Amino acid sequence: MRDLPRFPLLDGPSPFHPLPRLAAALGGRVELWTKREDLLPIGLGGNKLRNLEFLIGAARAQEADTLVTVGRPWSNHARLTAAAGARAGLQVHLVLTGPPSTPPNPGIRLDELFGAVVHVAATDQRADRDALLESIVATLQAEGRRPYAIAAGGSGTIGATGQVLAGLELFEQAAGSGTEVDRIVVPSATGGTQAGLVVAASMASPRTRVSGVVVARLASELRPAIDAMVADLGDGASVPEIELDESQWGDGYGRPTAAADEATRLLASTEGILVDPIYTAKALAALLARVRAGAWDGQTIVFWHAGGLPGLFEPLDGAGADGNDPGPVR
Ligand SMILES: Cc1ncc(COP(=O)(O)O)c(C=O)c1O
Repeated sequence: MRDLPRFPLLDGPSPFHPLPRLAAALGGRVELWTKREDLLPIGLGGNKLRNLEFLIGAARAQEADTLVTVGRPWSNHARLTAAAGARAGLQVHLVLTGPPSTPPNPGIRLDELFGAVVHVAATDQRADRDALLESIVATLQAEGRRPYAIAAGGSGTIGATGQVLAGLELFEQAAGSGTEVDRIVVPSATGGTQAGLVVAASMASPRTRVSGVVVARLASELRPAIDAMVADLGDGASVPEIELDESQWGDGYGRPTAAADEATRLLASTEGILVDPIYTAKALAALLARVRAGAWDGQTIVFWHAGGLPGLFEPLDGAGADGNDPGPVR
């Protein structure tokens, strides 16, 4: 893995630190830590920079000059592709789910600040976005450009390789601070982050369980995708059954929930740390629910703070200010 083409985007490890006031607010029944992927150094941070190191490495190895990817208007992966592409000197085209809104979503305004060309599909239908993507790739090729297409969420074996290294980084930090990690709680959308962490745990800390909190696809769709990535990344090594928690699904992807809002307020008011409503607040809400139920008493738990903070400023209530209905991921 360390020999794969890689374009450096990180200055060093993301911080790993305890959350003593949150743990105390939960009755002191568990030891809580967090891995601060939200503090990675460019584009307002977030876990997808890990994937992009390897995806941009692969793009450069193929002598691509343009990155093309897809997502929702709030996509952290799209924003970070724009930022990382700027750092790598590559043109970036983002093809986002529509319909277009006025004013544009905050996420799109950030994408444009990073110099990306943003294309918004006419509707919220996946088929429309895919058709737009195809026509944009064809146009770029006709113009003599060499586009490299990145899947939704930067997921897949190449991108998730970065997540294996993130997991190994955590276990090294934990060993350095004399901490044995029983469990990692992570938001799971396309599943690449969870797959990478599962493989890292199998290599460096077999006692550690990885609890994925479903936010964008239900477990029936997500599990086979994670299993496939784990099989590829882990080279067939045996791992425990993938843990997926659907309890925070609420009304679906991009829909706020009362439990996520409560979790956001509790973390912010005890530790001064923010989470986002689409991914990390739902993962934190799952963690709080399990700890309050006594399911994990005595354990050392790491909350995987994957970033996503611009999501705090997205119009997510109901159907959204633009009438866009957030359906399943992609
Ligand atoms: C902030 C944040 N957390 C978690 C995830 C989920 O990561 P994955 O798609 O690897 O499951 C994403 C994906 O976009 C994200 O942006």
